[in-house]
This record gives sequence, C-alpha cells and structure tokens, in this order.
Amino acid sequence: MVLGVVPFPRSLSTRAGAFALSPEVVLTGDAEAASVIADLVLARTGVRLRVAVAVAAAAASGRTIAVRRTGTGAPEGYRLRVDPGGVALESPDAAGLFYGAQTLVQLLSHNDAGGWDLPAADISDAPRFAHRGMMLDVARHFFPVPVVERLIDRIAALKLNVLHLHLSDDQGWRLALQSRPALAHRGSQTSALGDPGGHFTRADYAHLVAYAAARHVRVVPEIDLPGHTHAVGLAYPELVEPPVISASVAETAATFGGGIPTPGEPYTGFAVGFSSLRICDEATYEFLADVLGEIAALTPGPLLHIGGDEALGTSAEDYAYFLTRATEIVAGLGKTPVAWHEAGRVARIAPGTIGQYWGFVTPIDGADEDARGFIAGGGRLILSPADAIYLDMKPDAQSALGLEWANGPTSLEAAYSWEPTRVIAGASDRDILGVEAALWTETLATEADIEAMVYPRIAAAAEIAWSAADGPERTWPAFRERVAVLAELWADAGIRAGRIASPPPVAGAEAAAESESAAADSDPAGSASPAESAAGSAS
Ligand code: ACM
Repeated sequence: MVLGVVPFPRSLSTRAGAFALSPEVVLTGDAEAASVIADLVLARTGVRLRVAVAVAAAAASGRTIAVRRTGTGAPEGYRLRVDPGGVALESPDAAGLFYGAQTLVQLLSHNDAGGWDLPAADISDAPRFAHRGMMLDVARHFFPVPVVERLIDRIAALKLNVLHLHLSDDQGWRLALQSRPALAHRGSQTSALGDPGGHFTRADYAHLVAYAAARHVRVVPEIDLPGHTHAVGLAYPELVEPPVISASVAETAATFGGGIPTPGEPYTGFAVGFSSLRICDEATYEFLADVLGEIAALTPGPLLHIGGDEALGTSAEDYAYFLTRATEIVAGLGKTPVAWHEAGRVARIAPGTIGQYWGFVTPIDGADEDARGFIAGGGRLILSPADAIYLDMKPDAQSALGLEWANGPTSLEAAYSWEPTRVIAGASDRDILGVEAALWTETLATEADIEAMVYPRIAAAAEIAWSAADGPERTWPAFRERVAVLAELWADAGIRAGRIASPPPVAGAEAAAESESAAADSDPAGSASPAESAAGSAS
C-alpha cells in the first residue's frame, strides 16, 4: 500500500497489523500536542478522540496515543511508533510533536470495517533545512485574513515553517502603519487587473503572526525596495522618482494591459522595474526607519526582507548605496536582513544578510555570482529557483492561470526534480538556510486560484526542504505515487488542487513487455543467451 506521506521521513518501516481509531482511544501526555492531534483526527475522520493528560484516566481504556516531550533528539524531529495496541509520539520540542501529528494524519486510511486505521510503523524523522517556506504576494492581489489563515494551516501540514508575506509592490501597499498611515490609506485601493485592493490592519498582521506561531510558522515580512515602489508614490510623491518606461515596460503593457505607469495613479498592470525611491534624499531613509522600525516591532521572527529585486531604473552605484543603508537599518533594528539575490553584488551590505535566489535551476546572467556574494559576506541562501518552485508559473501550457517567463510551464516533475546544493556552485548544505516556494499573484485573484497553483507543487517544495537528498523514497516516481494518495486528503479537506497528471503505464512492465515481444519477433530460435534460456526454462 502506498502511504501518502509527504515530505517523506528520514526512515519509515511498516509492519503487519494496524491501530484502529475509535472514540475509546485516549490521547495522553503533552496537552498541547494531544489537542492538535485530536483536532486533526476529528477533521480528517470525524472520530472525536478523548484527551486525558492524566495517565490514570487512560489506563481504563487501554488503547492510547501517548505524546511525550523527550530530552534528546534533533530540533523539530520526532519518533512515531504505531502498534496494533497503541501509538507513541516523542520529540524534544513542540514543533517536532506538531510535525509528528501531521505525519500521523497522513498515515490514516479507511479500513474494511468503514473506520480508520494507522498502519503499524516505526518512523524517525527530522528536517534537512531550518528554513522551509512559502511566499505569498498580497501586493499584486490582496487576500484577506481568513485566506491567509487557511494557507498557514495548509503549509504547516506539509512541515513548512515560514510564511513570507510580500507586503508591498507597485500595485499596492498592504499593511497599515501608525507611523505612515497614508501608505495604506492611499496605496492599497486597487490590485492587478484593476481588481479591488485591501490591506491588513496592524491588528490583522499581529493576529496572523500569532496564528502562524501557534502552528510553528514564522512570518517574514517583505517591503520591496528601492524598486517596486510605485504605490509608495501614491502616498508620498516626493519620495519616488518618475517611472522609467523601458521597451520592456511598454511591451508588457501591450501584452497584458494595465496601461503605462503614471505618477499619482494606481498601477494595475504586470510590468516591473520602472519605479524607484529617491536614493539620494535623506527623507527616503527617514521613511525606511519609520516603516522598517514599525514592522520589526510587530514581527517577533528574526528576518526582515527588504526586496532589492529588479531595480532596473536605479543606477548600480545608487543601488549599492541604498542596499548598504537599508541593510544597516535592518541590522540596527536587531533583525537579519533578507534581500533577493541581486543585492549579493553589493560589496557593503550588512554582514550576515541572507540572499534569496530566484534565478533558474541552471543559473544564467550571473545570478549565481550574485548569490555567492551573500556567502562571502557571512550570510546564507534561501533557494527559490523560479523554473522549479515559482508556483505562479503555469503548471502546463493549457492553464488559464499563471505566467510562463521562467522557462515555460513548470510541471510537478520539474518542481520536484532539482537538488538545492546543485544550483549555486560552491554552496553546500551549510550555506543554504533553506528553500522557499513563491506565489506571485499578478494573474491570481481568488482563493481557488491560489489553491489551483499551490497544489500539488507545494508538496514538491516541502519534500525538497525537509527530506534528505539521499533519503528513502526521494525519487520522482515514488513522490508522484505518494502525492496522488495525499491528494485524496486534500480533496476531502475541500482544497481545489490542480490536476496531478496520471503516471504513464508502469515503465518497467511496458519496457519488459516490449522487449519480450521484440525478442519473440526477431530472435531466431536457439539464439537466447544461456541466462535467458535458464530463466525461460524455469518458468
Ligand atoms: C522576483 O521574482 N522578482 C523576485
């Protein structure tokens, strides 16, 4: 039986037998993790397990799921043992228990009696990378709190632990700030395609940060600077340069609509690289101190992302000056700056700045050289190769949603078939903080659109981020089979996932059948090798 377990654990072995779920089963031990398991099992199966932290209460029942914090083990790791008579889950930390709970739910399957079973199994697990993320662009299209909450639940179920929120771009500013209220007031009214806009209040943002933390997900806020700032100009025209209308901006307007960016008017098209803050004006750095200072204070996590991509209208000298100052401001706030890979070409960014690589799996145009700049500066890399895990790329050529600039449509196989240490030559596991899938939302306006693009490819990103490169079942054929089983869980949860192409007929069987018939057709009698003759005579 194929188990729909994604990401696949470090080790998993099954035995004969199963643990049958029933309302008599009692959850004991760690109260927080026990109630997570009870909620997840109820949602998946409709079975309401009892939580009895006191072991005495459980003894009467006899059949328990025992959840326990242990002193030792890898951070975020867990051990799960399922026997027909009981289940034991252990971890050194709360995150590990949470991840063990997610695995437990993925293991559930219907039994012949119409109930639910866990297969008898031994699992030992821990993540490969510390940073396992997804980025959601709420700037091109705004998505309200309940949509983001559901996304947090869903990425946490795949053991991702970072939600990167792209909070500002040319098309909108999405976080209300006390220090600069005009940003949300004037800069958030519209979205791409002329759709309605919106923004998070400070309270919304604080709620999302807490909601995520309860699911072991850290929020990384991004304010994209110094480009991607047309919306800033709606509130503070004195802080931005006039738009630079290059041939590519004009061509994008001709292809996708949205008009030519105009100062003082909301921008609803797809063009990039035309806007810039004024680099040589101190008012810009007062603005950064206010905005980044307020967001840092609202964000308990250690990372603050300042963009830095596609500043095509900014000279190299101005770009370097700006990135040096912006990363120093972030470091001065006690946060670690994160910037897209272009910033790695700047000699004097704050030491330890983390680079987010968004080039291709096989780098072009020196993007890998840029990325290595962060390592030289004592920083690490987050890998988001655009032709693998940019979830806004069309999954296939027929898709009405999504874009194609990253080497055309990205299949589930392409999303799965890359190895983090083989992207940037010289960057080993030690230099790689983690892996992040990104969902840009120029073409995505609804939650259904998000689901169609995120699923199933987010599962590929999750396995690459979590599972060891040489771990068990880390092959495309094995992943494809598991993800097809997991898709039943997604469907039952009401997720409108994109299509999973059905596997071709089993290649081995087909090839064997073909070569058999070829042999039958063309091999003259008596020409078989001794080994083939022996096999033939044995059957
Ligand atoms: C990016 O895709 N411009 C980071």
